[in-house]
Amino acid sequence: MMELEIRELRPENYAEMIALWERAGLSYRPRGRDSPAAIAAQMERDPDLFLGAFAAGKLVGTAIGSDDGRKGWINRLAVDPAYQRRGVARSLIAEVERRLQGRGREIIAALVEDWNTASLALFQDCGYVLDRTILYLSKRTAPWV
Ligand SMILES: CC(C)(COP(=O)(O)OP(=O)(O)OC[C@H]1O[C@@H](n2cnc3c(N)ncnc32)[C@H](O)[C@@H]1OP(=O)(O)O)[C@@H](O)C(=O)NCCC(=O)NCCS
Repeated sequence: MMELEIRELRPENYAEMIALWERAGLSYRPRGRDSPAAIAAQMERDPDLFLGAFAAGKLVGTAIGSDDGRKGWINRLAVDPAYQRRGVARSLIAEVERRLQGRGREIIAALVEDWNTASLALFQDCGYVLDRTILYLSKRTAPWV
């Protein structure tokens, strides 16, 4: 059984976190909301929602919760390929949910690309209900944000 520690990430974990996202093939926005400055600001604002999973001291998973005051969201969920299918993502989701629910959020949601069968299976395995009628629209100040 793998020992997993889930704890809050700090700005000094940035490089390790990006390296993990690269290994996992997670798409992210290095010049936008995932820049070092943007990540540090988000960690400062909501330190309790910025989580890493560590196995033997090594960062093997991340989940960033966000709270818009109406719903909680799970973002940037990624697990090192060498540690996948061992329940790391399930544990991260459970911990983000616990923290968001502690803030009073009764709905927790995630945006998942339609091709991402692993992530769709994961969230449904964790009790999330897929709504196929919703399409995502966004307005950006720049394409990279
Ligand atoms: C999606 C991802 C986070 C899953 O992480 P993980 O730690 O392997 O997931 P878990 O081990 O907690 O899986 C829990 C359950 O989810 C489902 N699941 C997870 N990965 C799956 C896959 N590749 N195919 C089918 N079902 C999958 C299964 O039901 C699994 O339970 P089981 O292993 O007992 O069958 C991981 O594959 C990943 O990092 N992918 C690349 C980045 C990404 O796409 N992130 C999500 C962005 S929305």
